[in-house]
Amino acid sequence: MKAAYIEHTGSPAAIIVGELPKPKPNGSEVLVKVAACAVNPVDTYIRAGLLPVELPEKFIVGCDLAGTVEAVGPEATRFAPGDRVWGSNQGLLGRQGTFAEYAAVDECWLYPTPEEIDDKQAAAIALVGITAHLGLFREANLKTGEKLFVHGGSGGVGSCVVQMARAVGARVMTTAGSPEKVQVCRQLGAHAVVNYNRDAADAAIRRFAPEGIDVWFETLREQNLEKIIDLMALGGRIVIMAGRESRPRLPIGPFYVKDCKMLGFAMFNATPDQQRRCAAEINRWMARGRLRPLIDRVLPLEKAAEAHWLQEQSTLGRSSSTLTGKLVLVP
Ligand SMILES: NC(=O)c1ccc[n+]([C@@H]2O[C@H](COP(=O)([O-])OP(=O)(O)OC[C@H]3O[C@@H](n4cnc5c(N)ncnc54)[C@H](OP(=O)(O)O)[C@@H]3O)[C@@H](O)[C@H]2O)c1
Repeated sequence: MKAAYIEHTGSPAAIIVGELPKPKPNGSEVLVKVAACAVNPVDTYIRAGLLPVELPEKFIVGCDLAGTVEAVGPEATRFAPGDRVWGSNQGLLGRQGTFAEYAAVDECWLYPTPEEIDDKQAAAIALVGITAHLGLFREANLKTGEKLFVHGGSGGVGSCVVQMARAVGARVMTTAGSPEKVQVCRQLGAHAVVNYNRDAADAAIRRFAPEGIDVWFETLREQNLEKIIDLMALGGRIVIMAGRESRPRLPIGPFYVKDCKMLGFAMFNATPDQQRRCAAEINRWMARGRLRPLIDRVLPLEKAAEAHWLQEQSTLGRSSSTLTGKLVLVP
């Protein structure tokens, strides 16, 4: 089968697109004929060797996938050949990735694809959708009427945070780096959007939430906790989920006198049951048109290295003009 893989970590040029043996589903694995996969920043960190993870000798990159079940392992019970599925949480913790014509995935990481949703959309929502859901609801317990702020409302995670927060009746503010992206965030449902390259975000946040922000979902890799805590409401929750190298100063005094909580999490630590609960609600929202992934562009699998390069420019290079949403690849 055709696959995008690496034999050693390195730059995007380390990605080889070539032939690898088609996997066989063992135990509770399901063999998925991949119709679409999506790029995430973590794919680029793993490929670059920035994360201390053991990789198979020929490591197929990628976490997200969507496609159709071709065969099931002897202990698989949830799916049957012909079922459409989507999933994430591959390509890490010793598991092979998804950028290939086929992937053998334990059924605990797969979810049925609603018939209203195509495979590209399902792949594009996978990791970012589950991440947004875990952060908003398992961690921050966001409630109707609360005020939420998220950086990067047109980013992979941010665009899901904006839509999910709207879906439960929160008041939503976000940022974008250009007038076009401001427009995109508004279309996703944000009540207030500030172009951080033009206007002072702090003043706009104070106007949006004079009593403070209830849930701050921080997608940036460098956090200004001094500023964030100053802008929080009493009892506010700060969700932290990016920036492994980040070592910001935590102003303890203002933090505790506001009864604030700081909630850190990594999506890949969530159990299969926790991720399945997120996926079920994501499916309901997508089927009803309440949630859609933001797809920047669709590329053939042969362009995997280019896709990694673009994702790196956008996330690590913080180049606002590179991407608006997800890169989807088709094998
Ligand atoms: N903990 C977890 O489980 C988990 C899961 C998924 C992702 N992550 C991490 O979360 C981060 C975001 O992931 P993603 O997939 O959403 O990335 P992404 O699609 O690249 O989005 C990043 C967003 O950040 C915004 N941004 C960049 N610099 C900014 C600045 N100075 N001020 C305001 N906004 C700025 C960009 O907005 P503009 O384009 O408008 O500038 C963009 O929308 C990454 O570091 C990723 O590794 C963690």
